[in-house]
Amino acid sequence: MKRLILLFSLLGLISSCQKETQTIYNQVFESDDPLRPELMKKAQETFQSVTPREYRPNPYEKVELGKMLYFDTRLSKNGNISCNSCHNLDTYGVDNLATSPGDTHELGGRNSPTTLYAYMHKQQFWDGRAKDVEEQAGMPILNPVEHNIPSEEFLVERLKTIPEYVEKFAQVYGEQTHETLTFDHIGDAIGAFERRLNPRSRFDDYLDGDDSKLSALEKEGLTIFMEEGCTTCHSGVALGGGMIQKFGIYEDYWTLTRSEKIDNGLYDITKRESDRYFFKSPSLRNIEKTYPYFHDGSVDSLGNAVQIMAQTQLGKKLDDAKVDKIVAFLKSLTAAPDPKVIAIK
Ligand code: HEC
Ligand code: HEC
Repeated sequence: MKRLILLFSLLGLISSCQKETQTIYNQVFESDDPLRPELMKKAQETFQSVTPREYRPNPYEKVELGKMLYFDTRLSKNGNISCNSCHNLDTYGVDNLATSPGDTHELGGRNSPTTLYAYMHKQQFWDGRAKDVEEQAGMPILNPVEHNIPSEEFLVERLKTIPEYVEKFAQVYGEQTHETLTFDHIGDAIGAFERRLNPRSRFDDYLDGDDSKLSALEKEGLTIFMEEGCTTCHSGVALGGGMIQKFGIYEDYWTLTRSEKIDNGLYDITKRESDRYFFKSPSLRNIEKTYPYFHDGSVDSLGNAVQIMAQTQLGKKLDDAKVDKIVAFLKSLTAAPDPKVIAIK
């Protein structure tokens, strides 16, 4: 009898092992080679590497002007902040705070996302309310809890008193138009600079065919990320940024994030019930470095954020090993901005 029990439990063990090995990732990582090219191929179909092609061809002088504006505290009413205060390029385009203090030290209502790779998104902001980085750039300038500039004219008049700006705007925009120092051109130049904030990560080298750039663990994580369905909302070149989705499809997000304030997302703009709790699925590039997570910075650890995603967006709980592997994969996306682009003269 004892033997029979032993036999049955052994059989049980074997069949559960077989089930496990049926998933691609075990085939890839236990039998090693044959499926490796397949994983890369699948990844190449789902994501794209960062290439210089994505730059909008902007003249170098415009990028330089945009950089100067990005770092300039004179773009805030009291001179306390610049774009770089909340989107610090020394810390991957974020300030690592849940919400950020503006020119008057008052805190904003949402977490500052990174400016790195932002131009790749189909829309800007957590609720997608600006179409591109050029249009977006003017909005924080006029926001009372950010740059706090009272009007477009106020800033234009202020910059017109700075000869270096007058000269640079004329140099960049003089051929197209007589009125060179305008509010739209300020946004246009900042956008040109932001379009250069797109460093390549190890994952890009992998996507371009260098299998050695990801470790076995990271490849397991990549496989799980694709198999579990994260790619429904986090794919393409930025691993996100392409769609607005409900945060909390299976469970109310705040029960897991413990958010203090419940943010309605896109609903606040459209007032359509079907848009309640809809937010942009963000890019996951540099996600290791852009903590705390989510639109309100309510979650500090990346592992927690991944688990919350699995529960709220996919209706499943992942075991710790799978979460760790996804996190390992996500870290292969880390890349600091090119020092040549951001070094201030
Ligand atoms: C006081 C902090 C603060 C300052 C200063 C600031 N931002 Fe932001 N930025 C934010 C916050 C918060 C959000 C998200 C707001 C939202 O989605 O409602 C944001 C969003 C963005 C986004 C959208 C990114 C994405 O993933 O959707 C870009 C691009 C951006 N800011 C660029 C800039 C530029 C350029 C400047 C300077 C002109 C600037 N920001 C100044 C806090 C700041
Ligand atoms: C149905 C769409 C959808 C799916 C599937 C999905 N996500 Fe998300 N993801 C989102 C949205 C929307 C947000 C933004 C939520 C918020 O903060 O308002 C987000 C945010 C995140 C964040 C935080 C990003 C930041 O900058 O703070 C991480 C990390 C993340 N997702 C990882 C994953 C992983 C890993 C999976 C798979 C287990 C996954 N997501 C599946 C839509 C999705």
